[in-house]
Amino acid sequence: MSAPVKVKDKYFKIFIENQKIEAHIHELCEKLKARYEGTEPVFLAILNGAFMFAADVFKHLEFDCEITFVKLASYEGVESSGEVRQLLGLEEGGLKGREVIILEDIVDTGKTLSEFIPLLQKQEPKSISLATLLYKPDALQYDLPIDFVGFEIPNKFVIGYGLDYDGFGRNYKDIYQLAE
Ligand code: IMP
Repeated sequence: MSAPVKVKDKYFKIFIENQKIEAHIHELCEKLKARYEGTEPVFLAILNGAFMFAADVFKHLEFDCEITFVKLASYEGVESSGEVRQLLGLEEGGLKGREVIILEDIVDTGKTLSEFIPLLQKQEPKSISLATLLYKPDALQYDLPIDFVGFEIPNKFVIGYGLDYDGFGRNYKDIYQLAE
């Protein structure tokens, strides 16, 4: 059992251990394989948060697929800043007629993706689906196509496994929850 960690000025307690994350990712990848094998899909992993999740997903996907990383949002402190930016991008027209799967670390309010998906739709992909490691159903405020979920979690701030608190804490292999 991992000990609590201090990241900047806050304490976080263990919430989901890496072994359990791996098991859920494995299951999620079986579902992705069943749906997408043979379709040469494009995975869009959202930076920075999804880097660790995406790397673990890709290790399990033993079929032809393309992988792209997109950096689009800024998030400050423990509440969503609401600011969405597309920083590193996609080649114009690269998604036309393709099956697209967005890989996200966490869906909180859903605002980031609700602004990002219309940008993708302009490229006329065949389909867009969303695979998120974490999903906070009680925080969701937007209508999103959340097709693949690793864990549904309560509406509390978490870090680790790619997720940060003010830029720190992404490097932990387990997921931690803000201690009260
Ligand atoms: P949304 O637009 O409110 O769904 O927030 C999406 C982004 O906010 C995610 O990609 C994360 O970067 C960040 N975020 C939301 N909740 C958390 C959290 O509990 N911990 C760390 N980052 C979070």
